[in-house]
Amino acid sequence: MRTIAVVNQKGGCGKTTVSINLASALAQTGKRVLLVDMDPQSHCAVGLAVPEEQIEQSIYDVLISKSRNEPMRLAEILWQISSGLELAPASIDLSAFEQQMAGIAEREGCLKDVLDQVKDDYDYAIVDCPPAVGLLTFNALRAASDVLVPVETGYFALHGLSKQLETLSILCKRCSQQVDVKVLASMYDIRTKVAREILAELRSHFGDKMLRTIINFNTKIKEASSFGQPISEYDAASKGQKDFAGLAREIIGAEAKQQRRQMVNSLTEQLESISTSATDLLEATKPQPQAVQSRQPKEQAEQQLTPTDIDAKLSDFYGVSQIGDAVAFVTLYPRANSVHIAGDFNNWQPEKSPLERVGDSGVWQTKIKLPQGKYRYRLVVDGQWQQDPYNELTELNPFGELNSILEVK
Ligand SMILES: Nc1ncnc2c1ncn2[C@@H]1O[C@H](COP(=O)(O)OP(=O)(O)OP(=O)(O)O)[C@@H](O)[C@H]1O
Ligand SMILES: [Mg+2]
Repeated sequence: MRTIAVVNQKGGCGKTTVSINLASALAQTGKRVLLVDMDPQSHCAVGLAVPEEQIEQSIYDVLISKSRNEPMRLAEILWQISSGLELAPASIDLSAFEQQMAGIAEREGCLKDVLDQVKDDYDYAIVDCPPAVGLLTFNALRAASDVLVPVETGYFALHGLSKQLETLSILCKRCSQQVDVKVLASMYDIRTKVAREILAELRSHFGDKMLRTIINFNTKIKEASSFGQPISEYDAASKGQKDFAGLAREIIGAEAKQQRRQMVNSLTEQLESISTSATDLLEATKPQPQAVQSRQPKEQAEQQLTPTDIDAKLSDFYGVSQIGDAVAFVTLYPRANSVHIAGDFNNWQPEKSPLERVGDSGVWQTKIKLPQGKYRYRLVVDGQWQQDPYNELTELNPFGELNSILEVK
């Protein structure tokens, strides 16, 4: 059995969509597939129309059962989704997993133990991870033979990529098994020039660490999940279905190739190398305003923005900036319904610091008065805690997640 962990601490980059639809596409080729939801938000159940209120026991119960000396079989919690596809659903209890397992020596290998017991029953286990790098994600990495990192092909996504991969690499230093790590371009919108340029850059920098298949942005994919179906069932003729069928073929093909070559590097080495590539990529696209201006008048230059120029403009605009004795927080979340800030300055209580939406622009902002000092904070987008994607300054918190840092002078 190959175990593919779908990992990226960035929220909303397509992890669950990739997990559900890749699992379903693999099952359609006749493979026996287990989909494991390791995210307390239990989006796999939502996306596959498994009624949450009827999930009595989840992967959480199986994971902790051994430590309670009442071992449970995975089969007790499985839901059959289609022929060849079974789901081990998550539940909100999973958010307490880290606390429950504190002090237990084998806490990082719980998922691996569980999956080892069913390794002859399935060809693939696909593990959907939460948007954080805590114990749950670490369990997935320890169990993985493959890691898939979906990356949104927008410039915003690229900006935090190096940091994300670096953090993954830190986590993975503690994994010893051999795995294959691949970056997957997701939500690709071919109509935008920026997306096309970013994809070309990603390909040239990541080389064979990047899957050839790309997942296009396709509204049918979104619709399918709101109807609780994989895209293969919702619209078998859609572009989205073609992409996932192609992804399944590439993954199956890569396995055959790998078996022939028997060449697998360690997880750490690969993540370090792709993380360095991401850093090089950002370096290579640093703003060069002089060159642009000397070639053409400013007005024209503005009409033909390159990703580099756009990045320079965005980094001026989004993120944190000090204005007198206050700090302005400006960020972009076009699909969010609420954005809050939780930090040491408000006792980590997001409800105290909401951001206001600016018209229909997708921009959110607020100003907070803060005395001199260094502060740690996280953004809470639709209830989901995450680092500020426009602030490069971060540090790892005790939960293994990244806090954003700001300093008022
Ligand atoms: N290729 C795509 N085309 C269109 N919409 C997409 C595509 N991929 C993902 N989406 C949509 O983007 C949103 C976020 O995707 P998804 O939930 O898969 O991300 P995620 O990384 O699992 O998020 P989280 O970090 O919260 O777990 C969803 O509404 C989903 O339907
Ligand atoms: Mg998800």
